[in-house]
Amino acid sequence: MYICLCKGIREAEFSALAACHGTCPEVIKQAMGLDDSCCSRCEANLETLIQDLSRCAVTR
Ligand code: FES
Repeated sequence: MYICLCKGIREAEFSALAACHGTCPEVIKQAMGLDDSCCSRCEANLETLIQDLSRCAVTR
């Protein structure tokens, strides 16, 4: 499943980025190559995935 259509980033690629860069939303967005010129339609997806990753990290 694509997380960000503009950058062509899939969920697995997002997870790999989060593993390398952590779950700070701004750092993840930068790692994905998102900037002010992007449409930002994926922000809700990103926030949900980041919350899920953060919850998993707490329960481990
Ligand atoms: S869908 Fe991610 S910036 Fe457009």
